[in-house]
Amino acid sequence: MAKTQIEKKAPIKYQFFALTPQGAGPIAEQELLELGLAVTHTESSGVAFEGQLAAGYTAILWSRVASRVGLLLSRFEAASDAMLYQGAMEIAWEEHFAVPNTFAVDVTGAASFVLNTKYAAQRVKDAVADRFRDRFGARPSVDTKNPDIRLLLHLGPKNASIYLDISGGGLHQRGYREHTGPAPLRENLAAIILLRCGWPQIARRGGALLDPMCGSGTLLIEGAMMAADIAPGLFRKKHGFECWKGHDLQIWENLINNARSKAREKKRSLPPIVGGDKDPAVVKAAMKNAFRAGLADFIVVRCRDVSLLAPPKNHYAGGLVISNPPYGERMGQLEDLEKLYSDFGRALREKFNGWKAAVFTANPSLAGRMGINPASRDEYYNGPIACQLVQYAVSPANFEKQ
Ligand SMILES: C[S@@+](CC[C@H](N)C(=O)[O-])C[C@H]1O[C@@H](n2cnc3c(N)ncnc32)[C@H](O)[C@@H]1O
Repeated sequence: MAKTQIEKKAPIKYQFFALTPQGAGPIAEQELLELGLAVTHTESSGVAFEGQLAAGYTAILWSRVASRVGLLLSRFEAASDAMLYQGAMEIAWEEHFAVPNTFAVDVTGAASFVLNTKYAAQRVKDAVADRFRDRFGARPSVDTKNPDIRLLLHLGPKNASIYLDISGGGLHQRGYREHTGPAPLRENLAAIILLRCGWPQIARRGGALLDPMCGSGTLLIEGAMMAADIAPGLFRKKHGFECWKGHDLQIWENLINNARSKAREKKRSLPPIVGGDKDPAVVKAAMKNAFRAGLADFIVVRCRDVSLLAPPKNHYAGGLVISNPPYGERMGQLEDLEKLYSDFGRALREKFNGWKAAVFTANPSLAGRMGINPASRDEYYNGPIACQLVQYAVSPANFEKQ
């Protein structure tokens, strides 16, 4: 008897890797577990997880911490240049993209046989091009700036892994920030800082979020998006899977539609989110960014000096005061900065009993001017600059003896 039903293929289980800033792997692990993803392994700068395509798409749309998400194409032994080329040559590239597409190869990690990561990238590019040329007589071109397909080569001591970068470049570029001040925080670093300070839990109990030196408003906008359950990837225009032959538009659109309706629901119940900055141009930029994120009605930004910092009127649920003040590396002179941190600390001691506070700074000795004993210190990198997140529980028991 003829078969009447078309046999359904079993869905493919993929291996993914979410790259994070150094030190943020465990925070991303927690986040991906809360998103219901199956984490298999966590490192200081990333998390491996597995699942069907929707798992990778979920991470792209919902991870606030990840910098990129890669879908594993192959992992193979590579102890020499020739093995790297051979391993890359064996990937069925023609199943993933086509000759008219452009591509690029980025490299992370290190291996003893690789003295120059650019050369390793070149070997993978050669393998891709040679495989296409052998089969089709033509090869895809390389475009390092805006490729259709971005590949990630990760080198380990004995193995190489090649991923398709399904995020298509930095996930920190959320798309809401067109206007910045002089030293903006990366959006995913701002999210990491807020998660580390327990902001989602504070928001759930009605606590406020204040940033008295808010610059372009990154901490405020990321904080509002977290509290309102707005997917961080909702405003991104371009993704790395768009030209990939395995892309499933239906799965992506379902996730996007679901994220859109969630964002509409929860905005109305946001707690007070208030920023300040002494620079009027920067205040304008923060307001424009909040507008672009659809949060203009929920974030207030005022032009004022940190010394005038006060809790929002008629707000009694406490909250989090967090800031990334200037720290001298890129702006500000030391004496002025000492006064700035001490003004900030005084305002906290006088008016914020019972609140949590935090500063993110590349100059931990300036944090010493706050006059409050820190509850914790964590180290993160803001680009190439080593920074500390210093947290405080604002209470007379923790004030330094003057
Ligand atoms: C490092 S930037 C903050 C960047 C911000 N986190 C962002 O992502 O755009 C520090 C900000 O502190 C502001 N600032 C400096 N001194 C201030 C003061 N006394 N009162 C209020 N804001 C001040 C600066 O204008 C600057 O925008």
